[in-house]
Amino acid sequence: METPYQNHIDKKEFDHVYEPAEDSFLLIDAIEKDLQYLKAKNPTFCLEVGSGSGLVITAVGMAFPGTFCMSTDVNYKACVMSRSTANHNKVILDSVNMNLVDSFTDHMFDVILFNPPYVVTESDECGGKDITASWAGGVKGREVTDKLLDMIPKKLARNGTFYLLLIEENIPDEVAAIMAALGFTSEIIIRRKVRNEQQLVMKFCR
Ligand SMILES: C[S@@+](CC[C@H](N)C(=O)[O-])C[C@H]1O[C@@H](n2cnc3c(N)ncnc32)[C@H](O)[C@@H]1O
Repeated sequence: METPYQNHIDKKEFDHVYEPAEDSFLLIDAIEKDLQYLKAKNPTFCLEVGSGSGLVITAVGMAFPGTFCMSTDVNYKACVMSRSTANHNKVILDSVNMNLVDSFTDHMFDVILFNPPYVVTESDECGGKDITASWAGGVKGREVTDKLLDMIPKKLARNGTFYLLLIEENIPDEVAAIMAALGFTSEIIIRRKVRNEQQLVMKFCR
């Protein structure tokens, strides 16, 4: 997959919006690994929750021309940046400022991606709408992630695929159990050690 152009972004803007890092690229690598599988499914609607700079959803839009891409972010500045990253790479993206997928009523997506705020923090650090929302994950680093898991059955198309980046501290086995109870199979499709962090991407299907 091609890495989207991002030189249009003034570095100072990354004081307010998550700057793409190893986790962002691991999520892209996971999609790349699954490219044939996804192409065979011919996705029409793709959604990235928490798109930050827009790097990941733009890479998806470039890999699947003709796919309708949407993204959400609780941080308004991230939505603006996501839109401009998509524009600079000629990807049509609808980027909406919202909590998770709350305001989507009738939408169902063929692909959903989430690189969540996964750092284990105190609960009261979690739930902001600024740069802290990029990393503060609360208890087990899962407070935001767990809320999205509950919404996946209603937002993922019957034949759809959900990709979620986690670290070991998030206890991926527990996430797999939650998703199994919701009717989804899971597998870890890629992992990478980054400094002291073991990052991985889980894939879920019905
Ligand atoms: C780790 S950053 C990932 C950014 C980008 N997806 C990437 O991979 O580079 C997490 C992103 O999720 C957003 N976020 C956190 N909580 C959210 C929520 N409740 N709803 C929507 N977005 C959220 C943050 O603002 C941030 O942009």
